[in-house]
Amino acid sequence: MPNIILVGTQWGDEGKGKIIDMITQDVDYVVRFQGGNNAGHTVVVDGRQFILHLVPSGILHEDKICVIGNGVVVDPEVLIEEIKSLKKKGIKVDTNLLISDQAHIIFPYHKMMDKLREAQKGKGKIGTTGRGIGPCYTDKASRCGIRLADLFNDSVFHDKLKENIDEKNTIFCKVYGCDGFSFDEVYKQYKKYRQYLKKHICNCSQVLNDAIAIGKSILFEGAQGTFLDIDHGTYPFVTSSNSTAGGAVIGTGVGPKRIDKVIGVAKAYTTRVGEGPFPTEFSSVMMEKIRTKGKEFGATTGRPRRCGWFDAVLVKHSVRLNSIDEIVITKLDVLDECKKIKICVGYRIGKRLIRYFPSDIGSLWRCKPVYEELPGWYQDTTRITKYENLPQKALKYLNRISELIGAGISIVSVGSDRKQAFKV
Ligand code: GDP
Ligand code: IMO
Ligand code: MG
Repeated sequence: MPNIILVGTQWGDEGKGKIIDMITQDVDYVVRFQGGNNAGHTVVVDGRQFILHLVPSGILHEDKICVIGNGVVVDPEVLIEEIKSLKKKGIKVDTNLLISDQAHIIFPYHKMMDKLREAQKGKGKIGTTGRGIGPCYTDKASRCGIRLADLFNDSVFHDKLKENIDEKNTIFCKVYGCDGFSFDEVYKQYKKYRQYLKKHICNCSQVLNDAIAIGKSILFEGAQGTFLDIDHGTYPFVTSSNSTAGGAVIGTGVGPKRIDKVIGVAKAYTTRVGEGPFPTEFSSVMMEKIRTKGKEFGATTGRPRRCGWFDAVLVKHSVRLNSIDEIVITKLDVLDECKKIKICVGYRIGKRLIRYFPSDIGSLWRCKPVYEELPGWYQDTTRITKYENLPQKALKYLNRISELIGAGISIVSVGSDRKQAFKV
């Protein structure tokens, strides 16, 4: 059975959750490898909606093991709430959920720092989710972060937390002029989480490699999208982890030679939440139309998503960065009422025409899209269950996308429900 990495190829919210849920039936383990509860992955089963933030989207299949890898940053309060809410809905969350003891913990000071930094940036803000993701990864890289294993070692936890709170309180007071946190309160609060988390803690790398050794297969669930990757994305308007396929091996402790396939998920158009360059962004009329039809509001923060035409230059770049074998196209149905559909095939920077995605933010801001226009199919696709039954013009659109990005399409999704997707 193959081990598969699934990543978003745009700026997140491509519909990864839905596709992970679909593919889960063919694997044994589903593993998150980066990010935290900045993610919001939606799965709809028979009209019931589940939005997963930290728990892998495979959790709705009770015979599969879900793992939160070492590359993830974990807010225990959010995780415990998510587990409770899933259980309330009748979903089994027991020893079928494992969490790496090397995953870093998000503390209240991370969340406060996230918000203060954004506020201070003013107009130049990133538009983060405010969940403390960036500051937690900052501590990880600074080597003062606290990992889940530390939470279970009383003296280590006490000393590390004390050191962090003393340092952060000085910054809160002297740089931002605001109050910090009481060590005693945070210490007491976090010690309580032990009883909820204990049975889920594991050595992620060992669990997964042991599973592979006996022929089990793993699905690596990417969060965010390629252009939010800290190295390859539209820096600094990115998240703080590696959301490209390479992040899967680092964030789980499974070596690259164990990976058999990489699947990329792309929306039939493009969306972005937060700030940063977005060459194919719509002007107001189309923005409203697609946002409403596609229900483009953030699954985590509820913010309206910025929408635009499909950018083939961007996704082609993603295909290369992630070595994508297959592409899944989601939300094709959202374009059902468009008379004409555009695909971005290049950019103009001043008088220069380019067909690649520039790496520097200055050029990116100046990119003006060059479009190819195709006729819309102007027909409802939400009830279609077979690829060959799609309208001819929709097939033409998909074929052109595939040709431009240099990857074959393996699944097409035409609605939010689990059943509204088919293999090509
Ligand atoms: P993720 O973060 O990549 O998992 O994506 P989100 O869950 O944040 O956003 C995708 C949204 O589109 C969710 O509300 C899904 O229920 C919905 N969705 C997924 N696939 C389709 C589709 O093919 N058509 C429509 N109309 N909605 C879809
Ligand atoms: P899923 O997994 C879309 C964006 C934020 C912001 C930037 C940095 O659901 O696709 P952060 O809080 O991570 O420091 O914010 O990244 N962002 C996402 N956008 N989908 C996501 O996750 C995102 N996670 C973070 O809006 O622009
Ligand atoms: Mg999302």
